[in-house]
Amino acid sequence: MLWIMRLSGFFSAAMVMIVLSPSLQSFPPAEAIRSSHFDGYLRFPSQLSAVNTLNPFSFRKASSYRNAEECSSADRKISGQNTVCDPSLVHIAITLDIEYLRGSIAAVHSVLQHSLCPENIFFHFLVSESEANLETLVRSTFPQLKFKVYFFDPKIVRNLISTSVRQALEQPLNYARNYLADILEPCVRRVIYLDSDLVVVDDVSKLWTTNLGSRTVGAPEYCHANFTKYFTESFWSDRRFSGTFAGRKPCYFNTGVMVMDLAKWRRYGYTKRIERWMEIQKRSRIYELGSLPPFLLVFAGHVAPIEHRWNQHGLGGDNVKGSCRDLHPGPVSLLHWSGSGKPWLRLDSKRPCPLDALWAPYDLYGPSP
Ligand SMILES: *[C@@H]1O[C@H](CO)[C@@H](O)[C@H](O)[C@H]1NC(C)=O
Repeated sequence: MLWIMRLSGFFSAAMVMIVLSPSLQSFPPAEAIRSSHFDGYLRFPSQLSAVNTLNPFSFRKASSYRNAEECSSADRKISGQNTVCDPSLVHIAITLDIEYLRGSIAAVHSVLQHSLCPENIFFHFLVSESEANLETLVRSTFPQLKFKVYFFDPKIVRNLISTSVRQALEQPLNYARNYLADILEPCVRRVIYLDSDLVVVDDVSKLWTTNLGSRTVGAPEYCHANFTKYFTESFWSDRRFSGTFAGRKPCYFNTGVMVMDLAKWRRYGYTKRIERWMEIQKRSRIYELGSLPPFLLVFAGHVAPIEHRWNQHGLGGDNVKGSCRDLHPGPVSLLHWSGSGKPWLRLDSKRPCPLDALWAPYDLYGPSP
């Protein structure tokens, strides 16, 4: 792969330049995290304007990319301010948090590398950290990228999250996907949501153009999975709750890869519907996991089925230490390390699973290997 900067020395020099150069340093946070249309969910943490420390995460710059000739070039038609509203863009939302940052950067990298029209992709990054300047980090790693960073205020969900659930699943940012319809600009009518522990190995525009029919959410469905286990006995024994599935054939789906029709989502008020189930959960303990069950409650059985190739999930393995998973049979467009193990941690510990080698080429962390 052709990295623009091959040497770590170069990289440190670049970071020093970023710190010293006023032009590079002055990405105005107010511009970056602007959310004038929806002040209720987004709030400026005052610390953000005071970021002046060297970013502790050293990522290499990704190689540059260009659209193929057959791409309709978006930019030239609409200039400046309203880039995000350009109808030819492919919108992707992904979270950036410190713990999974390396994964998110690799995911973005993978999307760009396999895209025929990478310049037509717009990334919507959701952050809830105010201390790290993730905006600058993304800009220095992907200088050409079209993107915007949004602050997702953890307070929005803190009152809705029950405390007893497994810690890792209760990061407020896990719930940001519930709020995309409110956070993103109203002109963004469709978005692909991606988890941070995956890589895309196919042209994402194929996923983007999925026909959702009358549905609001598209995702690969797994109808052989035992759906019962996602909810507690008190859920199934109370008709007021379990009755919600009457007349549907609910199947498990993974919320790590979803195509979402935001226009329909807004029209039918799905954010509120999900929040209502989270409120019930606080009182009645109707499920064990975190952000997934409310999605199942609202959408299972009403999901537009997407080919399984777009979410080869479970590669993180289960809680048994060192357990490795194999791919499900069939073609692969997206590899997802859901589960407890993460490829970057296993690679660092020198005890990787065989399939972790498929993640490594997208890693931009540290000096060139
Ligand atoms: C599905 O899971 C529930 C709860 O864990 C269990 O009681 C039931 O036997 C399982 N059903 C099948 C078909 O495995």
